[in-house]
Amino acid sequence: MEKELKKFEGKQEELIHILHEIQQKYGYIPPQTLSSIAKHLKISEAEIYGVLTFYKGFSLEPKGKHRVTICMGTACHVRGAPMILDEFERQMGIKPEETSEDKLFSLETVNCVGACALGPIAIIDGKYHGHMVPQKVKNLIEQTKKEEE
Ligand code: FES
Repeated sequence: MEKELKKFEGKQEELIHILHEIQQKYGYIPPQTLSSIAKHLKISEAEIYGVLTFYKGFSLEPKGKHRVTICMGTACHVRGAPMILDEFERQMGIKPEETSEDKLFSLETVNCVGACALGPIAIIDGKYHGHMVPQKVKNLIEQTKKEEE
């Protein structure tokens, strides 16, 4: 970790950038990295926790290999997003912000991804699936699992 931090000057403004890099590398922010970051930037671990809890994109827990995101913005909501979310929860056995035990899937919600006309939308590993209906959910999960084989 110290080696990775060396490329940063040690300015507090670099915190977000550092956290982004770590998350990209490991898929989450391993809690044991916090003390090194705090030391390097001369800030407290509590300050880092503050940033981590403020920005929803950071996670202190390992995420699943596949990220499922359901848009819960107003346009998607009125078109049935809650039913889509319910079905993903049921099929995967997890709630939003959770990761399945086999570490294959993480479930997240988001507010509007700027494609309201396609709503309701599920995004799996960055791919948009528009006009979702609960009947499509099982198939999408199966397809994603098949890509593993
Ligand atoms: S509300 Fe879902 S894309 Fe806008």
